[in-house]
Amino acid sequence: MEVNISGISFDDIDQILAIENKINKFPWSRANFLSSINAGHKALALKFNDSIIGYTFFYIVDTDAHLLNISIKRSFQKQGMGKKLLTHVIGYAKLSGATMMFLEVAVSNLNAIAFYEKLGFIGDSYRYNYYGTKDKEDAFLMSLRGF
Ligand SMILES: CC(C)(COP(=O)(O)OP(=O)(O)OC[C@H]1O[C@@H](n2cnc3c(N)ncnc32)[C@H](O)[C@@H]1OP(=O)(O)O)[C@@H](O)C(=O)NCCC(=O)NCCS
Repeated sequence: MEVNISGISFDDIDQILAIENKINKFPWSRANFLSSINAGHKALALKFNDSIIGYTFFYIVDTDAHLLNISIKRSFQKQGMGKKLLTHVIGYAKLSGATMMFLEVAVSNLNAIAFYEKLGFIGDSYRYNYYGTKDKEDAFLMSLRGF
């Protein structure tokens, strides 16, 4: 499948929100996406036929890269698209001088945990009550080192 990766602009947020609200248990709001862009985080879209089918948000401080969000539209999942996007992010982080990447994932999100493990991430610890406001859920903290 011919896909490409490009930067995200404010005009892309509607398309991204439509995907986000369908696939994430704790979806980012429009305000979350806007503040991430405004904070200068790196935001990339994976496109097929000019439509967004996936996206990722991350930032790098010194040698540490923090993956904030990676999502693939449901109809494109399990076809190697997440791997393609995350491999790109890891390559970008490496070129930028990062030596490790970390992320939080909801403890119930076994699909994503399996995905990250396939990419070489290991579990480090937990962040208690990290997600949600009323129904809270712990985050599993995972990292990838030595790339
Ligand atoms: C997690 C997510 C990004 C994975 O993307 P994807 O495109 O479906 O994953 P890929 O097809 O690239 O899979 C890459 C590897 O992970 C494995 N994997 C992916 N989903 C898996 C699952 N549900 N169970 C077990 N393994 C899985 C694949 O088997 C594949 O292994 P391989 O390289 O040996 O074939 C995607 O499912 C998603 O967007 N989920 C909803 C949003 C989300 O939870 N994001 C993470 C929040 S922290």
